[in-house]
Amino acid sequence: MSRSDRFLNACRGEPVDTTPVWIMRQAGRYLPEYRAVRARHSFLDVCHQPELACEVTLQPIDRLGVDAAILFSDIMIPLEGMGCRIAFDPGPVFAEPVRTAADVDRLRPAEPEADVPFVLDAVRLIRRELGGRVPLIGFSGAPFTLAAYMVEGKGSRSFENLKRMMYAAPDVYRALMDKVTETVIRYLNAQAAAGAQVLQVFDTWGGILSPADYAAYVLPYSRRVIAGLDRSVPVIHFVKGCGLLLDLVRQAGGDVLGIDWHIDLADAIRQVGGAFSVQGNLDPTVLLGPESLVRERAAEIVAKGRAARGHVFNLGHGILPMVPPENAEALVDAVHEAGRR
Ligand code: CP3
Repeated sequence: MSRSDRFLNACRGEPVDTTPVWIMRQAGRYLPEYRAVRARHSFLDVCHQPELACEVTLQPIDRLGVDAAILFSDIMIPLEGMGCRIAFDPGPVFAEPVRTAADVDRLRPAEPEADVPFVLDAVRLIRRELGGRVPLIGFSGAPFTLAAYMVEGKGSRSFENLKRMMYAAPDVYRALMDKVTETVIRYLNAQAAAGAQVLQVFDTWGGILSPADYAAYVLPYSRRVIAGLDRSVPVIHFVKGCGLLLDLVRQAGGDVLGIDWHIDLADAIRQVGGAFSVQGNLDPTVLLGPESLVRERAAEIVAKGRAARGHVFNLGHGILPMVPPENAEALVDAVHEAGRR
């Protein structure tokens, strides 16, 4: 068995030689070689130009020894194809937040090959440059997280505009979610057709609702997305804050559940049983501690992950810009050592 098999096998619950590992935001500001590219190009330029996206996608692969590559892009990119104008500072800022029925009417579901061809060109180029070393992950935001940014116009603490729309104008909310859901399905299937070998759905804000509201306002759309995807490609569903929602999140389907660090991985595995593989779940700030602590915490999570159908090691959210790259390298090494079968 080779490095290129372990990630796909773990996603499908098949045997592995050791626990596979990749890191959310593994191409990013903690790497000096990423900052060097960003000194010459804006974030959006890197997303829009396949050669640049390919260059930064590959940066962490051999340096860290991770078992998967993830397309360098952002979850906001397909929304440009729906007609949104977005800047980054450093997070997304929408020129015209979506607040009314008329705003929703103006949006159109994106056509990936016509509206964001550079993403699909990047997927094809990255596959070629990877030469089979490791599989490539494509991704999208989940409809709820995308709608949260569209309605708020930027990140938010309390999401009052989004929740006002949900509760006071449910028809507008549902019309928006229908258009975003259609965009996400087309966008993910286009990435798979271009060569993405696994698809990850990021629902960063799925955990801000009560279980009843998650079931009513989020789950139907996430389930529709996963049901609409090409069945031959494993799907990772990551809902940040999923610890108290696992029984609902599992109903959306998929092959792998992404788990953040607010729930013990052993508890999460007990709840999702044999039906899913799991991905996670180290607290990203552990990488600010000494290397000995990084190795110790990694080994604990790897040991818990052995009870799962399959375990893909990851952080519980993205790597932070101030992490020393040596600690990320030590993490990957520690996972491979502790996970050896
Ligand atoms: O994981 C990877 O390496 C792939 C690339 C990737 C980026 N964003 C690059 C990025 C992925 C998968 C994302 C997803 C994304 N983007 C999410 C979902 C996952 C999560 O982190 O919750 C969200 C909510 C966004 C929206 C977004 N984009 C925010 C909030 C920010 C600013 C955050 C920050 O760290 O400052 C961005 C910008 C962004 N996206 C950067 C990167 C590397 C930093 C931009 C820079 O270089 O200046």
